[in-house]
Amino acid sequence: MRVGFPKDFLWGAATAAYQIEGAWNEDGRGASIWDTFSHTPGLVDNGETGDVACDHYHRFEEDVELMRRLGLGAYRFSVSWPRVLPEGAGEVNAAGLDFYKRLADALLEAGVKPFATLYHWDLPQRIEDAGGWPARETADRFAEYAVLLFDELGDRVEGWFTINEPICAGMLGYAEGAHAPGGKSLADGLAASHHLLLAHGKAVRAFRESSARGGIGIVLNLTDVVPARMTPEDVAAAERADARSNRWYLDPVFGKGYPEDLVERYGSEMPEILDGDMETIAEPIDIFGLNYYNGRRVRHDPDGGLLELSGDEIRLAGTELTEMGWGVWPEGLFRLLLRLKNEYGNPPLYVTENGVALPDEPDSGGRVEDPGRIDFLARHFLAARRAIDEGADLRGYFVWSLMDNFEWAYGYSKRFGIVRVDFETGKRTPRGSADWYSRVISENAVEF
Ligand code: FCB
Repeated sequence: MRVGFPKDFLWGAATAAYQIEGAWNEDGRGASIWDTFSHTPGLVDNGETGDVACDHYHRFEEDVELMRRLGLGAYRFSVSWPRVLPEGAGEVNAAGLDFYKRLADALLEAGVKPFATLYHWDLPQRIEDAGGWPARETADRFAEYAVLLFDELGDRVEGWFTINEPICAGMLGYAEGAHAPGGKSLADGLAASHHLLLAHGKAVRAFRESSARGGIGIVLNLTDVVPARMTPEDVAAAERADARSNRWYLDPVFGKGYPEDLVERYGSEMPEILDGDMETIAEPIDIFGLNYYNGRRVRHDPDGGLLELSGDEIRLAGTELTEMGWGVWPEGLFRLLLRLKNEYGNPPLYVTENGVALPDEPDSGGRVEDPGRIDFLARHFLAARRAIDEGADLRGYFVWSLMDNFEWAYGYSKRFGIVRVDFETGKRTPRGSADWYSRVISENAVEF
């Protein structure tokens, strides 16, 4: 079976600054909350840090060459805010800015369209010290930083994404303690989430006033949520979980405000929302990025507290849980893409991340065959194609990730790359899935 994709469909791969760059204290880069977090003993598995990571800061030319050889049509990277503004605001670090200019130029030269994410979780520590995302002013600092990049890189970047996964930056970072800066207050998590969305809206407005070319949008990670049993309790719990993980971000971005039922449930934990905030957040976008990994079967949990996270992974019959403990559920991608079409006005869509962490089993020559990753990607590509057939305006797909990298609180233990990285030597070795993906790209089709 051969499943073709629309002409001009954009095939890419994604990474994020802190996960790959390394060079954490070089050429004037300021500290970020992830430097502080990873340098605090006990917070990241095996005490690992992003100090060196894939050393992409020094090896970006080799990495772009790799992308050229794979035939990538686009590359989604993120800009490290403290690399360009070491103090978070004020003085610009020319060397940092120059790095991203050289990266974008190399990509263009290689025929790979640059897609830039402005915030993939590495808040300047100085901004955190001044209150971080729970403080409203952080949204203004972000908008200023965004303007700088629109001015400096606006002639090179094809697509801009403001915030990557506000639920993770806000809730994992400030309410659940799992990500930097490690906060554990629901009120802070909700305030952070609100200000991240506000930051997004302010940046979109600033983009309209800038002379940057291309389009702009946000990246949300959505989860397909279903009730564990068809009991009224589980159905209601699943609706709340959907509101918490999906609609809390989708609805305001698309002008529907926060889900009322959940606003009521959060009660006094809710942040202050000023006049005009919801309009700012709903500033129209040009493109929407969906990060999709898994689905969740939710059951009512009387002891679950306000966030009520109880549930199991949904997975295809016969599949194992991935290294992340996530299920393999391509149907969820199909359902979410159609939901974006039917309930959110069918914006131009990109899958900005999708991929899988699997055990790392190099053969004696260092080569990794990873049929599990090929199978995972093929099933998800097929789900995406079905959504296109049903009318979803999907324009492109970025595999997570181009190469193995620092997987946040899991350190280097989870490998998502289609290219293997030897973290001792920095050596990159394309896996079987990279060769397979390269064929998908050149044929613009998946063969089964
Ligand atoms: C997403 C993140 C990305 C990566 C993948 C596995 O939540 O955006 O940086 O860690 O998960």
